Amino acid sequence: MSTMVRNRTTTEDDITAEVVRRIEKTEDPRLREIMLSLVRHLHAFVKDVQLNEKEWWQGIQFLTRAGHMCSDKRQEFILLSDTLGVSMVVDLISNRKREGATESTVFGPFHREGAPEMPLGANIAPHDPNGMPTIVSGRVLGLEGEPIAGALLDVWQTDSSGKYDAQYPDLEEMHMRGKFRTDADGRYWFRTTRPLQYPIPADGPVGQMLEATGRHPWRPAHIHFVVSADGYEPVTTHIFDSVDNYLDSDTVFGVKDSLITTFEKHETVDEDSKRFHIDPPFCTTYWEFVLQKPLVANGKR
Ligand code: BEZ
Ligand code: FE
Repeated sequence: MSTMVRNRTTTEDDITAEVVRRIEKTEDPRLREIMLSLVRHLHAFVKDVQLNEKEWWQGIQFLTRAGHMCSDKRQEFILLSDTLGVSMVVDLISNRKREGATESTVFGPFHREGAPEMPLGANIAPHDPNGMPTIVSGRVLGLEGEPIAGALLDVWQTDSSGKYDAQYPDLEEMHMRGKFRTDADGRYWFRTTRPLQYPIPADGPVGQMLEATGRHPWRPAHIHFVVSADGYEPVTTHIFDSVDNYLDSDTVFGVKDSLITTFEKHETVDEDSKRFHIDPPFCTTYWEFVLQKPLVANGKR
């Protein structure tokens, strides 16, 4: 009978190799790929910065506080992913668009299921009396320029205090959100108030991380959309206000040049005030969303 002499692992690199050896048995090939890469990068990071026990414990406490901060109205881990740029890297990998199709951007934590479907022209901001009245209008088109009738636009934004409805503790009602369907020519229009720049929730560990690294928590003014239509890929995106001074330093890295729009101010009665039945002063912005068709089996769209 032979006795196998096995060297116990003792160096940092031995530990990495042993963890990798055990994970290599994972049956699901994608899970195996992800876990192996995760362990290799995690170990490389710890070795790179020579993480000590005190710092490791600070990291554990940070993640524990992030977990305790989460509820059905707050997702601190998504905020962490957003502020570390991870959400946007995942977005870019997952949503490669063909030339001319509307680009996507970060979903964010403030979307709510069940926003009401409203008639074209309806106001999503009836309870925001201090905001600048604004008409958002445009069309939803396919890549060949074809108007898409019956496309659904799910819209949400902050009010003129820079807050989403879910950030008011006692407010169960939906505000500053609604769904609209394009008409036979692919057109949509609705009334709102002009979006303003606002800070992401910074009263938790993510806010502490931003402060400790000398960063601000601000996002440039934007309106969120999920635009969908039968036979087309949906797009989750924003439109951003061209004059915002945070366009170059969005705390969640969500700005893409192709998503920047201009808000035109109307000070007197004009064609638009008559067309949209709105008294000056008000703003308008016009935006065309372009949806691409999904890939089909032979690689054509
Ligand atoms: C938002 O735009 O709603 C948002 C996105 C990422 C983090 C926080 C808020
Ligand atoms: Fe937002």
